[in-house]
Amino acid sequence: MPVTALIGLQWGDEGKGKVVDVICDKMDVVVRAQGGANAGHTVIVAGRKHVLHLIPSGMLLPRVRGVIGNGVVLDPFQLVKELDTLGAAGYAIEDRLTISNRAHLVLPWHAALDAAFERHRGGSPIGTTGRGIGPAYMDKACREGIRVEELRHWDRLLLRLREQADRKNHLLAAFSSEPVAIEALIERLASVRERLLPMIADTVWSLNEDHMQGRQILIEGAQGSLLDVDLGTYPYVTSSQCHLGGLLAGSGMPPQSVTRVVGVCKAYTTRVGSGPFPTEERGDIGAAIRAKGQEFGATTGRPRRCGWLDLLALRYATTLNGVTEIALTKSDVLAGQGPIHVATTYEIDGRELKAFPSGSDLDVAVPRYRAFPGFDEDISACATVEELPGALRDYVSFIESALKIPIAMVSTGPGRHQTIRL
Ligand code: IMP
Repeated sequence: MPVTALIGLQWGDEGKGKVVDVICDKMDVVVRAQGGANAGHTVIVAGRKHVLHLIPSGMLLPRVRGVIGNGVVLDPFQLVKELDTLGAAGYAIEDRLTISNRAHLVLPWHAALDAAFERHRGGSPIGTTGRGIGPAYMDKACREGIRVEELRHWDRLLLRLREQADRKNHLLAAFSSEPVAIEALIERLASVRERLLPMIADTVWSLNEDHMQGRQILIEGAQGSLLDVDLGTYPYVTSSQCHLGGLLAGSGMPPQSVTRVVGVCKAYTTRVGSGPFPTEERGDIGAAIRAKGQEFGATTGRPRRCGWLDLLALRYATTLNGVTEIALTKSDVLAGQGPIHVATTYEIDGRELKAFPSGSDLDVAVPRYRAFPGFDEDISACATVEELPGALRDYVSFIESALKIPIAMVSTGPGRHQTIRL
């Protein structure tokens, strides 16, 4: 059975949580493969809002099994908090969730170092989520990380934790930051360990076995392609690979197993944190989109920067991911915003650019727009494409023909039912 990958095509917050929830009705297993609790996937079921940071979004459907893959950096305390919150809301997750033995732990010194590094970035912070993601991937890359499987061997782990605390506290002292109290950490970790142990498994084998048994698997991307550490707007990126290659590496699935790649993008663009964003609208238009789209970070509550759709960025993201279909989200937010703009080219020093550039070119790129008539109708109750205003239909057709990729789904509101399949 082919594997489906779902990927953010912008700077994250594309509404992936909702799309995963919608397409999971046909899935048996849903996998998180990269990132950590920096993600904030919002899913609304029966009018109730759930924000998931580590637990795969598709798990709100009771028959779907979930996997936290080897590429994830896992904050054990955050995971237990999330399990408890979902448990209180009536979702029994624990029996259906497995965690890769190869995933790395995010521990309190990672968040402390994240804050320290941000404070000392020469006045140009990245604007991280503060969840310790960068320092946790640093430890992984320099082979210092503590993996989930180490929770199984408590005595050995205690030695590792004390040794790590010593190193990290030296580093924190150099940044004039408070040290991490290791004995208190050990006590906290002991209190969640028993709960996590039954969930730990070799998910590379179990996922490949699921694949061979013909089960439907969805690998759910976190963040977005433009935040990818290799292919995104470096250095204003996250520390994992958010594109398809990262999802494969972070789940252990072979490349040829993925035959369907769903790219998710908003009908406009947003970004949280610092970094280039050529189509950003800093004035009234951006503020109006923010207000209507409730564009505030699901993890940090920060206001998101808002602007128009950027075809250069989208073409770049669909190309590097081999996207086979697009899910267009939050089209309802464009209602009442006046004419809709889409960047079709950039201009740099009088030169026209059709391909998304990298590095300093992006800082000075001036977007050139094509304008489309807007619409004022409330589309939240539209159930078919025919019911959508003509102006929105034209806008969708334009994106589709410009990218040469079918738009398979248009989302008209946050609820599961507010989804038109094309
Ligand atoms: P970090 O992943 O916390 O290190 O943050 C690095 C950059 O990625 C910052 O600009 C964050 O705002 C951004 N970022 C990380 N996770 C997300 C996400 O899930 N949605 C949107 N932006 C994110």
